[in-house]
Amino acid sequence: MFNSHHNILFKAIILALCVISSVHIFLFPLYGLETQPYAVKTLQGLEQSLCTISMRHHKTGKKAKCPNYGIVTVMQGGRIGNQIWEYASVWALARRTGLEPYIPRCIKLKLEQVFSSLSVPTFEEIAHCPFEMDKFVKSLDEWNYTNQSIILPRYIVQPELVLTWVQDIKQELTIKKKLLKKAQYILRMAAKNRTNCTFVGVHIRRTDYINRVMTKYSAKPADLSFYTAAMKYFEKKYLRVIFIIVSDDPKWCIKQFAGNTKAYITGTTKPNTPALDLAVLSSCNHSIFDYGTYGQWGAILAGGETVFYSIKDHSSYRVGQLLPNWHALP
Ligand SMILES: *[C@@H]1O[C@H](CO)[C@@H](O)[C@H](O)[C@H]1NC(C)=O
Ligand SMILES: *[C@@H]1O[C@H](CO)[C@@H](O)[C@H](O)[C@H]1NC(C)=O
Ligand SMILES: *[C@@H]1O[C@H](CO)[C@@H](O)[C@H](O)[C@H]1NC(C)=O
Ligand SMILES: *[C@@H]1O[C@H](CO)[C@@H](O)[C@H](O)[C@H]1NC(C)=O
Ligand SMILES: *[C@@H]1O[C@H](CO)[C@@H](O)[C@H](O)[C@H]1NC(C)=O
Repeated sequence: MFNSHHNILFKAIILALCVISSVHIFLFPLYGLETQPYAVKTLQGLEQSLCTISMRHHKTGKKAKCPNYGIVTVMQGGRIGNQIWEYASVWALARRTGLEPYIPRCIKLKLEQVFSSLSVPTFEEIAHCPFEMDKFVKSLDEWNYTNQSIILPRYIVQPELVLTWVQDIKQELTIKKKLLKKAQYILRMAAKNRTNCTFVGVHIRRTDYINRVMTKYSAKPADLSFYTAAMKYFEKKYLRVIFIIVSDDPKWCIKQFAGNTKAYITGTTKPNTPALDLAVLSSCNHSIFDYGTYGQWGAILAGGETVFYSIKDHSSYRVGQLLPNWHALP
């Protein structure tokens, strides 16, 4: 009697353990999702769970070799500036760890609006591979074994990692020729055909960020005095300087800079796409920006001297400490 009871109990425990472990493997709950935990069973399911938009299944002729070890990937979040950091962080972390990088197709589609030669493949190319990702971590610090995968959280900004290879990431983020041509046309217009001008790209972010600066960083938003002080810095250095102002609030800029003959505001008659404005900023010789990842990338890609608004704890500060020609003001 006892024996058979024991036997049943034993079997029940084994069964319970099996259920627990299969739940762990097959109901792979992704952290950070606003929706219900996602049951992910395939690499395509994983890709969808990383995207904020719905991705239609898409067959590709390209079938890559299946990954031997873990992979690095990231969740999609934010607009273009955030997604460049998400992409670049996967790119850099793969270099650092030797793991293979894959980005969700939604991020690639977004970035292909701007860049022409992105090398990190999407999940399409390994869609035929078995899903073996019951073990994953969220950062390099937690990562222990090469058979562990890393899924970075959305909004990740990792300058310490990415800017180790600043020249290489700039090459990875080559802007499309068509956009560069349009950007050069805009700069020529702004210079009124004068030659030998020094272009300073100015990114002014206002609409959604002013509140964010006060609530998230408990800081005072940049006001006119920041932009004029930053402009003075470049005016002292260069004789023929032209400020190319890119903003989400061109009306405010027109009001503030109407009398400034050295300032040219883009998109006043018809707004430019964010892709074209990024091409414009990256085509300038030097940069001024207040805050935000879009301004950061405009300045990193321009590669010149950069003056940015000083907020302690903002990621710009970390970027500024890594790049020698970046200065915080005031
Ligand atoms: C990885 O190693 C750290 C200590 O180096 C340890 O605290 C952590 O639990 C390990 N994580 C895993 C998933 O093994
Ligand atoms: C992962 O690698 C570690 C260390 O080499 C090893 O102990 C472990 O068994 C491996 N796990 C899997 C699931 O392959
Ligand atoms: C610049 O030069 C081009 C051709 O040389 C001319 O068509 C254009 O009107 C000029 N633009 C300005 C702003 O002077
Ligand atoms: C162009 O500008 C630079 C710096 O402002 C100056 O050194 C150079 O002599 C100028 N060249 C011409 C052709 O005007
Ligand atoms: C400044 O930027 C313009 C426009 O992209 C470019 O043509 C010029 O060569 C740059 N000047 C210097 C000194 O890099």
